[in-house]
Amino acid sequence: MENESQSGGNVAIIDLDIQDIEGVGPTTAKKLRDAGIISVMDLAVSSAEELSEGINATKETAASFIISAQKLLRETNVLDKEFITADTALQKRRSMLRCSTGSYALDDLLLGGIETQAMTEFYGEFGSGKSQICHTLCVIAKQPIETGGLDSGVIYIDTEGTFRPERVEQIARARGFDPTEILKNVAICKVYNSSHLELIVKDLGKYIDDFKAKLVIIDSIISLHRAEFSGRGTLADRQQRLNNMLHKLIRLAEIYNIAIVITNQVQSSPDTFFGDPTKATGGNVVGHASTYRIYLRKSGENRIAKIMDSPYHPYSDTRFTVTERGADDLEEQTTKKGSKKSRKNETDSDEEEV
Ligand SMILES: Nc1ncnc2c1ncn2[C@@H]1O[C@H](COP(=O)(O)OP(=O)(O)OP(=O)(O)O)[C@@H](O)[C@H]1O
Ligand SMILES: [Mg+2]
Repeated sequence: MENESQSGGNVAIIDLDIQDIEGVGPTTAKKLRDAGIISVMDLAVSSAEELSEGINATKETAASFIISAQKLLRETNVLDKEFITADTALQKRRSMLRCSTGSYALDDLLLGGIETQAMTEFYGEFGSGKSQICHTLCVIAKQPIETGGLDSGVIYIDTEGTFRPERVEQIARARGFDPTEILKNVAICKVYNSSHLELIVKDLGKYIDDFKAKLVIIDSIISLHRAEFSGRGTLADRQQRLNNMLHKLIRLAEIYNIAIVITNQVQSSPDTFFGDPTKATGGNVVGHASTYRIYLRKSGENRIAKIMDSPYHPYSDTRFTVTERGADDLEEQTTKKGSKKSRKNETDSDEEEV
């Protein structure tokens, strides 16, 4: 079963002990545990810098432990072999799950919804709907896979203090779901500064297991780093820290078969003469780490979403809106394409939305 190595592979992961790793004896195992590295997975997704500090070893030693952990995961088929053939890669992609955003138009744009094994970034100005999409995803992720959910818990990391359980409750009610079950399935972490955020991301593997989450939302990813590292001199340090965090997130997405959704703001770029003079904050570091980038813009009462960067989505855009149901389709889209109910599970993308 191809799924075994990804989503169902947790059985194998739990069976593995940190001392099964080549070169890790009881003393090193203790050091690792003291540094918060409990499982083989924790070690495999660590970065050498972070680990060398944690266990007070050289970067080379730390890197060799990480490589040995990844080797063990490969040998036990939890991780892919270094080289896999393209047909195996395609099989692996098939174990990928998709979560509906709440708007079928937006799902079509994403060729079926938010993907696991990937990091999706929504960026746009204030009020463009980033947090609304995140709240809607909290409701939908709990739904069965057959109806566009992930049948899973959600981890919501809130760096701006804008998460509102009442809004999740309202969206759930408006969509005809029982809000109690849904609210119980969303684990919120309010983060106060950039170091706190980095720490949470470092330990995320444990939380993903604890909350059986297949979706991790970070709303927003860089506002804290941006606020704290403002001067030019600190920019390189900030980008380095962001880079470490984002790469850890990508490794988690792939290894745990989870979807990661991040939001990002825009800043004006005065050197743009043509087109939209705004761009996502965080520079290339965030841009290169995100698998998919979606730019959201207000357009009167509605919103426009545009795919900006994707390894396989065609360049396109679509309209959606925000209602009491959260991210939602425009009336005209629902009537044009049939009732919302009958369109469940549809992933056709042949019709241009805009
Ligand atoms: N209950 C609701 N019913 C309908 N629309 C709503 C509701 N709640 C919020 N909205 C719409 O969502 C908008 C806010 O969007 P959102 O909070 O997603 O912005 P954002 O992109 O996260 O902005 P920021 O950068 O400030 O975090 C509001 O201006 C309003 O138009
Ligand atoms: Mg917001």
